[in-house]
Amino acid sequence: MRSFQSIALTAALSALIAAAATCTGAEDEPLGVRLVNQMNALYGQHPGVRANHAKGAVFEGTFTPAQGADVLSSAVFLKGAPTPLVIRFSNAGGVPDARDNDPSTGGVRGMAIKFRLPDGSEQDMVCISANSFPVATGEDFLALLQAIGASGPDVPKPTPLEKFLSTHPAAAAFVGTPRPVAVSYGTQPFFGVNAFKFTNAQGTAKFGRYRIVPESGAAYVSDEEAAKRPPDALADNLRASVEKGPVKFRLLVQVAAADDPTTDATKVWPDDRPTVELGEIAVTKALDTKKVENDLLFLPTNLAAGIEASDDPIINTRTEAYAESFSRRTK
Ligand code: HEM
Repeated sequence: MRSFQSIALTAALSALIAAAATCTGAEDEPLGVRLVNQMNALYGQHPGVRANHAKGAVFEGTFTPAQGADVLSSAVFLKGAPTPLVIRFSNAGGVPDARDNDPSTGGVRGMAIKFRLPDGSEQDMVCISANSFPVATGEDFLALLQAIGASGPDVPKPTPLEKFLSTHPAAAAFVGTPRPVAVSYGTQPFFGVNAFKFTNAQGTAKFGRYRIVPESGAAYVSDEEAAKRPPDALADNLRASVEKGPVKFRLLVQVAAADDPTTDATKVWPDDRPTVELGEIAVTKALDTKKVENDLLFLPTNLAAGIEASDDPIINTRTEAYAESFSRRTK
């Protein structure tokens, strides 16, 4: 299997060829805007398309809370009747027609969920297939994207990307992790990565991170098979499964111990931390993605009462960047 690092380096090179511009955005622009500028420079500008996670597939679903989920949080969807969902699965990267196994995706997939709450408000969860992030801040993410953009084939070694990775061990570990392509989006586990604060009706607060586990088990294909499959097999295979019946995931929260870092998404918490079962996500119907996806905006800060953002700085930077990308793609 090719290492993710070599895939990431190849992605960096092809991205550079695709986009001559590497240094964009004045220093005084908000960080979220500079991040979107840099994503547009790396992947090219595609009108009406997300700056990141450009390729997606939208589904309808239902969330059914588990008994006792409200022990963690008083959020309205954790008790009582099922909640309708809109779910967008995606591949990372800003190239809308990239194959599922394209290096520009970095091997990362997304699952964004919108809970339509009874009072008309919304709760969003925006998760990826990796259980950590390569960097701890938006500033470092911008530096990483700039280093990728500046590391073309003719650039002398060590390239800016190599230099960045040598001084950022978590980023080096992230790009060195093999990330096979799943059989379908329905066989891929997803992770919230950033910590959120959950408060129950008694006022007890705990920090936790989402985990979304496919009930049929995680299942992947080999690199060889991924290269031979149709370009959108992750979505095609999920649509085919959903036609036969609901495809289900368990929604869990991994609860932090007192000294686990809640403001650094590069730090994975130990696996023995307890998890609380929030309930079951059933993916029930494929929607017409092209018709609906541009009106959808998932924000990590779109939260129900009983769930708050932690002080992880990436959360607010994400919201700033997503809003900027949304305004560009809906112009
Ligand atoms: C500073 C860090 C990050 C930046 C700048 C960033 C940027 C972006 C942007 C610009 C979009 C397109 C939004 C839109 O047009 O609606 C996006 C989408 C997305 N991001 Fe991030 N992101 C970051 C971190 C993360 C993290 C930590 C996760 C998950 C844990 C994540 C998961 C996703 C997903 C799943 C989507 C697709 C949402 C959809 O389907 O509409 N991102 N990101």
